[in-house]
Amino acid sequence: MGIDFPRGFGFGSATSAYQIEGAAAEDGKEDSIWDVFCRVPGAIVNGEDGTLACDHYHRHAADVRLLADLGMNTYRFSVSWPRVLRGDGSVNPAGMDFYSRLVDELLTAGVTPWLTLYHWDLPASLPGGWTNRDTAARFVDYATAVHDRLGDRVDTWTTLNEPWCSSFLSYAAGVHAPGWTDPAASIAAAHHLLLAHGWTVQALRAAQRSASLGITLNFTPALPASDSPADVDVARRVDGTANRFFTDPIFTGAYPADVREDLAAVWPEDLVHDGDLAAISTPIDVLGVNYYTTNVFTAGPDAAPSGPTPHIAAPDAVQVLRDLPLTDMGWEVEPDGLRRLLGWLHTTYTGPAGTALVITENGAAMPDEADADGHVDDADRIDYLRRHLHAVHAAMAEGADVRGYLAWSLMDNFEWSFGYGKRFGLVRVDSSLQRIPKASARWFAHVARTGHVD
Ligand code: FCB
Repeated sequence: MGIDFPRGFGFGSATSAYQIEGAAAEDGKEDSIWDVFCRVPGAIVNGEDGTLACDHYHRHAADVRLLADLGMNTYRFSVSWPRVLRGDGSVNPAGMDFYSRLVDELLTAGVTPWLTLYHWDLPASLPGGWTNRDTAARFVDYATAVHDRLGDRVDTWTTLNEPWCSSFLSYAAGVHAPGWTDPAASIAAAHHLLLAHGWTVQALRAAQRSASLGITLNFTPALPASDSPADVDVARRVDGTANRFFTDPIFTGAYPADVREDLAAVWPEDLVHDGDLAAISTPIDVLGVNYYTTNVFTAGPDAAPSGPTPHIAAPDAVQVLRDLPLTDMGWEVEPDGLRRLLGWLHTTYTGPAGTALVITENGAAMPDEADADGHVDDADRIDYLRRHLHAVHAAMAEGADVRGYLAWSLMDNFEWSFGYGKRFGLVRVDSSLQRIPKASARWFAHVARTGHVD
């Protein structure tokens, strides 16, 4: 029987600059915090980095043809800030030209460009990174410069990808660039990221009234392992910093009261200025949803921090695995979590605001085995995608206004601190950098062309 998505539903895939481009020091590109972080011994599995990555910087034309061959109508990519702006704030024309060519190629191929301004590769030259309020102002300058060049051809703009990762994972847990382990700094980073988002939405809206503007958040729903008050509370605290820390200010103009209370001891003084929350809650057109898994937590025996954690309000959180299949990341496969998430977002935030939902990332790293010709018969990835698409469809039938689904990722790439070992691609990229569509790419191409999922 299967299911059918409405006409006009967006089907495509996503990538990010540092994970695929390579050319890390070419044509005037300066260092990002990820270039620097990858040089820290032990930061990345096998000491790998994005210096070459998929060499997309040189192979973009063929990659765009591949997207079109695979039936995709939308392509979500990110711009590397230190590729297009120099440390002194001037435009690097060669860097801008690269994205301009990419956009032209996409449009010629009939693929809608979906541009993300920030997917974690902050210029290393900015003092204090996101802990510095001035970085939010610099971000608006950067966004404006990119928009000046591409705004005549790109209609869909996402300010930030997953600010939870670029704050709590990066400044508290220390596992992402710049690798700090300071909870107060991570709160400052999160607020300044949200401020950068809000100010940029205002600037781009003024420049292009018809643009579709939004932000992409990662959602890992947190469920309690039991109905004991301790488990319920630990799940609430994880959910508070992971999810509501971002959705509440964006959609209601206030940080959640319980999160403010949980974090009172580490919340930096004078962080939130008059007018900040009004800027952060500037209306958006689209909320991008990245969903991979749902987690269950129990309260550990001791609330003392066991080491750096992104769950700064819940150092006592202990994840409990259920009897579910795991991906190669060790993430539980739970498609129904996506249906519930979309329903919650629609009811609580996006429905009342009239904001559309798009799945901007969903996919799975799997232990791909290639045959002698490099082909991968990834039935496990197809099963993952199929079940999550069914969950999206079910959420829509229940009323959620979902307009598109972008698979993560177009191709195998640099999976941050995990290096190249974790493969999320629909297309295999081998050591010779050849692109070989997996069985999942063929399957997804059929979905993208017909809107039908078996
Ligand atoms: C998301 C990131 C993306 C990729 C996937 C697996 O958190 O946005 O770059 O790493 O996870």
